[in-house]
Amino acid sequence: DFFKTLEEKSDNGALRGDYSRCDANYVVQQDWNAYTPEQHELWRRLYQRQAKLMHGRACDVFIESLARMDAADGIPRFDQTSEALRKATGWELVAVPGLVPELTFFEHLANRRFPVTVWLREPHEFDYIVEPDVFHDFFGHVPLLFNPTFADYMQQYGKGGLKALKLDGLTHLARLYWYTVEFGLIQTEQGLRAYGAGILSSGGEVEYCLTDPAPRRIAFDVERVMRTLYKIDSYQETYFVIRDFQQLFDGTAPDFSPLYERLGKLPDFAADTLLPGETNIAPNGSKGA
Ligand code: PHE
Ligand code: FE
Repeated sequence: DFFKTLEEKSDNGALRGDYSRCDANYVVQQDWNAYTPEQHELWRRLYQRQAKLMHGRACDVFIESLARMDAADGIPRFDQTSEALRKATGWELVAVPGLVPELTFFEHLANRRFPVTVWLREPHEFDYIVEPDVFHDFFGHVPLLFNPTFADYMQQYGKGGLKALKLDGLTHLARLYWYTVEFGLIQTEQGLRAYGAGILSSGGEVEYCLTDPAPRRIAFDVERVMRTLYKIDSYQETYFVIRDFQQLFDGTAPDFSPLYERLGKLPDFAADTLLPGETNIAPNGSKGA
């Protein structure tokens, strides 16, 4: 979650989290014993509400991994999940105080470490939170890291981020993260399913993105994604749909250097654009879908 940089946020005085104890990579101890019974209870409520919504809406690998993660009873211990993850895909979790600088974020991903925020939202933020907390990071992002292809994609994304920093490509690369890792949809034989963490940790968007007639649903294409602006304070106006995780990996494997060059000179698309010739994929439950 690098889309708002540390500086931007701290300029607003809005940055949340205790950064006084982190190391050079912004890693902290999770300090699991410091969570209160009330926080564990809030986690259970968040988890139960959200887990119930996953059937028929989240992709299979998300549901299967979530079951293996054993995180229903309270805020999980990152160490335990890391152990399972290491065995599955060689990834591990690191605890961070909150948003971290882009360079740090990319370095973690490039080394198969996923940064998870340690703090939990307040009860009044049950339905909506501006900055990612432990529930979004853990519930939303960690399950997919158990899938080998997606896990590899995330590492390549981290490496690509380090490269984009040097090539002035971050604006375009960030849109790829947004429309895949955070808000991606996948086509299955049973219909559309969500795999993006921003969707899967949200109480409302998880239904909206699959069945509401309003937003556009467009077949995934790297260049199209990179040119498309996005909303940060409302449900998305466009979702991009992949066929499988291999398409995501293969479609993003080519060298982006010439792409950044070219896109730098082309205009962006508004978040609600449907281009001539583009198919708007039918939502679940609609006629013919
Ligand atoms: N192929 C991209 C590049 O050359 C790297 C990348 C891979 C970025 C996967 C995002 C996701 O920069
Ligand atoms: Fe996120």
